Amino acid sequence: MYHILLCGGAGTRLWPLSNRQTPKQLLPLFEGKSLLQITYLRNTFACTDVMAIVNEQQASVIQTQLDEAGADSPTLLAEPVGRNTAAAIALAAFVSDPNEILLITPADHLIGTPDIYAQTIETAHRLASENYLVTIGLQPTYPETGYGYIQYRDQHDVVRFVEKPDHTNAVKMMESGGYLWNSGIFCCRAAVVLDELKQYAPAIYDAAALAANEWLRTGVLSMESMEQIPADSIDYAVMEKSDRVKVVPTRMQWSDVGSYEALTEALMQHYQYQNQQAVFINSDPQTSMVIGKEKLVALVGVENMVVVDTPGALLVMQKGKGQEIKQLHQWVKENR
Ligand code: GDD
Ligand code: MG
Repeated sequence: MYHILLCGGAGTRLWPLSNRQTPKQLLPLFEGKSLLQITYLRNTFACTDVMAIVNEQQASVIQTQLDEAGADSPTLLAEPVGRNTAAAIALAAFVSDPNEILLITPADHLIGTPDIYAQTIETAHRLASENYLVTIGLQPTYPETGYGYIQYRDQHDVVRFVEKPDHTNAVKMMESGGYLWNSGIFCCRAAVVLDELKQYAPAIYDAAALAANEWLRTGVLSMESMEQIPADSIDYAVMEKSDRVKVVPTRMQWSDVGSYEALTEALMQHYQYQNQQAVFINSDPQTSMVIGKEKLVALVGVENMVVVDTPGALLVMQKGKGQEIKQLHQWVKENR
């Protein structure tokens, strides 16, 4: 199996820790490793090779991080401009052997239960070898509107796939039961996802074919060919429409580290994170998180705080307000 690492997204929800130059998947926050490195290492048990689809500006950092993690000559596809996941997956599939089974993963998730993950991937691999487009589904715990929802029956059959519902529909799906969250991890033969793209997103298929051929000839994805590819996510372009989708429900512990709250939980629970540069006076260190290396940070008489000290900016945030960072990031983009 071939590991396809999707690594082109921009960081907006963990500003100022992550930003355009250094998105969250490249920050060495987890015992010195980044989410990209952890994701690569998580999949070596099942995958012989790795291909990363990346933003051109981060290509050399990603190459270095994969080398450090022990990847043996990874393939890098460097996009001069991102055209979302349908395009990235199409490019990866076009340059792969059509029969190869691809394990397509985001580069920015944490999974806490390696044994359950391995079993889940084995099942996904089996279904992918039967020419299905396989996704991994998780028990939803609250009506998140940023995820895809999969209605399923009889273990692996998918009734429908709904990407990013509005709040009302997310609540309805939660209440009706029988829905899973889409983890964003997919497994399929290269030829299968290309067939589905050809059928449901022919413009992406055609333009990505040209760009991939160019890459095979020259080793470069040009701006001109990338701009020809319509931007859409694989979830809208294929998963909502295809009738070849199967799901593997799993109970693995999963986080997309999409907020400071999720990052705090991951660092404190799984990595026993303790900032050596922080001091707590009349404040419970278990309820707050301090990230920063340069100076001593003191918390006095406050609870449930997130403090992030970077050379360019200082963030002080009450836990529970993490979703407002997107708004803050927007302000920073417009005003600084
Ligand atoms: N190379 C490349 N180019 N990678 C990209 C691009 C691009 O243009 N756009 C996004 N990615 C990468 C991101 O870095 C991330 O690792 C992955 O593809 C998924 O993209 P996101 O932008 O994070 O997607 P999402 O979180 O909104 O939604 C997806 O993930 C959810 C779970 O976290 C969907 O698959 C949802 O259905 C799913 O629930
Ligand atoms: Mg995401």
